[in-house]
Amino acid sequence: MHKYQVSLVALLAALAIGTSSCSQETSPQVKPKATVTTLKEAYADKFLVGATLGASMFSASDTTSLALVEKNFSAITLDNDMKWERINPLPGQYEFEIADKFAKLGVDKGITTVGHVLFWHSQTPDWVFKDDEGQLLTREALLERMRERAKMFASRYGDRVKIWDVVNEAIEDDGSLRKSLYNQIIGDDFIEQAFIIADQEMPKDATLLYNDYGMDRTGRRTSVIAMVNDFKQRGVRIDGIGLQGHWGMEEPSAEKIDETLTLYAATGLPMHITELDVDFLGRDGLTGANVDIEKLQATPENNPYPDGNFPAEADEKLSQRYQEIFKQFIKHHQSIDRVTFWGVTDGDSWLNGWPVAGRTNYPLLFNRDGSAKKAHDVVVNLAK
Ligand code: GLA
Repeated sequence: MHKYQVSLVALLAALAIGTSSCSQETSPQVKPKATVTTLKEAYADKFLVGATLGASMFSASDTTSLALVEKNFSAITLDNDMKWERINPLPGQYEFEIADKFAKLGVDKGITTVGHVLFWHSQTPDWVFKDDEGQLLTREALLERMRERAKMFASRYGDRVKIWDVVNEAIEDDGSLRKSLYNQIIGDDFIEQAFIIADQEMPKDATLLYNDYGMDRTGRRTSVIAMVNDFKQRGVRIDGIGLQGHWGMEEPSAEKIDETLTLYAATGLPMHITELDVDFLGRDGLTGANVDIEKLQATPENNPYPDGNFPAEADEKLSQRYQEIFKQFIKHHQSIDRVTFWGVTDGDSWLNGWPVAGRTNYPLLFNRDGSAKKAHDVVVNLAK
């Protein structure tokens, strides 16, 4: 139990004693309220709180992250094992082991499962875009391949996985369409075609999301809002907007988050914060989550706490940043269905390896040993 929880229990007990001794004769005894100790309990009346799982969490050697997930989170996403290159690395070859365990975990533990990701330009094998002769597919052939993938997910997981990132990262910072192979082969209606396929093939009660990073940047934000409004007007089904939320210590500011959540909420679609983390160490001017960049090298300047000891003043700063972020989520909670962290403990985070290789970063709410950071307690207490 953490010090805040201990002192709150003591306070409530003292109040209960005080109440019962002075009002015994006149009113029934006031029972102390149960203390909220986990993220999922604290936010139960606002939104789901999720985390991503990696394959290693399903192995016997993991003794920390999975237990934390079951106790603290109400939604789960697989970080990599539903991506095209993992689940279907070669034509006709499928690797379902981890995704099966993930879907089963959700059912067994009553945790909402999120499918990540149907169509993304990255972590998608080359063969997907090519025919047997190595030539780029025709538009119709690629659309058919996409449909097969949606069908595969629908038949294997459709009864259990009800939220899907349909398209990931198809719009650039400036609002233009990303010139991915999907875009080059299918054309500028790639996103629309992807949603039409998802609508036709995925269960009707699934939630279909568009997901991207840097969703606060004006160019992308304007384009995503225009796209959503256009889809709604023309009857192309889209059910929610996914904001990844790979954020820094300063950016985006609380005002920018507020403004961004207000603007997306005005579309009428619910928002999902899909990949939240705070890059405590910073990124030397690099922003967003473009996983294709060339990584920088760790130095004493950009990697100040390599031994895993996060000093109290740093912990305090991180908790303040999480506090300002969650204040905005609470303010806009009626438009937010889910807030998912990208990882469980700091040891799981991709930010130990990006955009600088080999750092020891501290972006999440749980320390490497599974103990809660100050940011965890601040976020939990904020919801009370
Ligand atoms: C992007 C993707 C995720 C993951 C993260 C970084 O945001 O959507 O699947 O790859 O980058 O790990």
